[in-house]
Amino acid sequence: MKAIVVTDQAAGTAGMKLVERPEPQAAINDVVVQVHASGFVPTELTWPPTWTDRRDRDRTPSIPGHELAGVVTALGYGSTGLSVGQRVFGLADWYRDGTLAEFVAIEARNLAPLPSDVDFAVGASLPISGLTAWQGLFQHGHLQAGQSVLVHGAAGAVGSMTIQLAREAGAYVIGTGRAADRQTVLDFGAQEFVDLANDTLEDVGEVDLLLDGIGGDIGKRSAGLIRAGGTLVSIVGPPEARPANGLAVDFVVESDRAQLSEIVQRVRDGRLRTNIDHVSTLDDAVAALNPTERRKGKTIIRVRPLQHEAVRPRNSII
Ligand SMILES: NC(=O)c1ccc[n+]([C@@H]2O[C@H](COP(=O)([O-])OP(=O)(O)OC[C@H]3O[C@@H](n4cnc5c(N)ncnc54)[C@H](OP(=O)(O)O)[C@@H]3O)[C@@H](O)[C@H]2O)c1
Repeated sequence: MKAIVVTDQAAGTAGMKLVERPEPQAAINDVVVQVHASGFVPTELTWPPTWTDRRDRDRTPSIPGHELAGVVTALGYGSTGLSVGQRVFGLADWYRDGTLAEFVAIEARNLAPLPSDVDFAVGASLPISGLTAWQGLFQHGHLQAGQSVLVHGAAGAVGSMTIQLAREAGAYVIGTGRAADRQTVLDFGAQEFVDLANDTLEDVGEVDLLLDGIGGDIGKRSAGLIRAGGTLVSIVGPPEARPANGLAVDFVVESDRAQLSEIVQRVRDGRLRTNIDHVSTLDDAVAALNPTERRKGKTIIRVRPLQHEAVRPRNSII
């Protein structure tokens, strides 16, 4: 099969290569999925599991990409809940070969059914950003209607999902980011925007919940903005400063079939919009993942061209 591999951490995305790799086999509890579309998070090549296995041994050449949408082609012993020919989407294990490939072996529990009217490219844009926003707000942040939420990096993949889910849950949402992203953040539903380079973050006042997708100095300054009893949820590692009278949590997103289904249902009925900026083929993926100018949303790799799909879905984006 064709796949993108990385072998050299120092080279970053410039070190990506399109090569031939053996097709993966389904292990216990796995299914094999023919990947139709794949999502890649730009920070992936800094994550340890891209390079080493769970015992810290080198596992290169490794195939990056952890979001996928595709069709099940084989079932491993013991896999449940899915069948051959089924459309699925989900989140691949950090320590295994990923989804920038024609096929991936993945535990069935990491996948959910992808409804027939949701395009594969849309499906591949949802798992990491949608689940991270969902888990950050509801599982770790315990968001309640009427609370205020500050979202750092609000125009990004996770941030744009966070704004929409928080608004739907009845929160007051303040998004932060770069000056150029003001309108994007307001269009996704934030009631206020803070340009981190030119506005004063502290003018926001106290908030009940912070979802921090930036960290560093911005994260440190934000601990003081958490109201007594509030929560700071970091998705960029352990917080460097903690709220004086609140909780600080950091977590790594996990796949969850029920949550994936909640997220895709919201996409179908128009409550949730994805933030896709660019769609490319696998043959052009290395160039697409090394953009020469700033991208305002996600890059999705359409691994299997559209003519191979029996029916073109209604919400196809390209
Ligand atoms: N813990 C987890 O499970 C988990 C899950 C998903 C993502 N993450 C992490 O969360 C972060 C966000 O992920 P993402 O996929 O949403 O990334 P993304 O799409 O690149 O979004 C990040 C946004 O924040 C903005 N930003 C970054 N630094 C900034 C700064 N100093 N001032 C103003 N704006 C800034 C970015 O603008 P520019 O594009 O101009 O920099 C971008 O709009 C990444 O570090 C990622 O690794 C963690």
